[in-house]
Amino acid sequence: MQIIKVKNAAEGANKSFEIYQNALANGVKVLGLATGSSPIALYDKLATSDLDFSDVVSVNLDEYLGLDGNDPQSYRYFMNEHLFNKKDFKQTYVPDGKQADRDKAVHDYDQILSQHPIDLQLLGIGRNGHIGFNEPGTSFDSTTHIVDLTSSTIEANARFFEDPSKVPTQAISMGIASVMAAKKILLVAYGENKADAIAATINGPITEEVPASILQKHLDVTLIIDDAAASKL
Ligand code: F6R
Repeated sequence: MQIIKVKNAAEGANKSFEIYQNALANGVKVLGLATGSSPIALYDKLATSDLDFSDVVSVNLDEYLGLDGNDPQSYRYFMNEHLFNKKDFKQTYVPDGKQADRDKAVHDYDQILSQHPIDLQLLGIGRNGHIGFNEPGTSFDSTTHIVDLTSSTIEANARFFEDPSKVPTQAISMGIASVMAAKKILLVAYGENKADAIAATINGPITEEVPASILQKHLDVTLIIDDAAASKL
């Protein structure tokens, strides 16, 4: 694991932006993308840069079940707002949270992933060590699947909802094996509330109780973390 320590999220966005500049200059064609607060400053920089994404395919990690792309709380909407409405991509994929046939939604996304192997996967991390919506206890062998969100994740995500009781309780997520299949992984984490998860990810045992701990086994992982997130290392 390569660990890059930064003072704050703004510096983290600058560092991660450099990684994207280099990746695109080196011909990267498939980006695995994440939502949440951690990548927002990076997306702002990508969106206002002169980088060309017209030959790039993006594949997002996850989506709430029950929300369609026009719902402002959906991850499709988030991605449109922060990046896709501002930059032309060749194709953008987000799991289909509105597909009534869940098995089909899962199968279709695995097909998409097999057709578009991810070159560079961006990750945030949950306070409980989740990556994507792969909560503690998720099998390291998992591919795309339907997830029951834990109360800790529902609580953490309630801040994005006007009515906290409207936070969906299920999601569709790329699995941990799908994340690990990416050629390169970049995880960004900022703030003290990520410190325990970061310490467990880097120094803890590799256990399904801390999904991100599997990253210790990936051959090309970079972590960009600020001082607060690094405070328990
Ligand atoms: C979102 C996702 C989640 C977030 C994680 C951290 O697509 O995959 O795993 O990365 O919950 O969220 P923030 O960045 O809001 O702290």
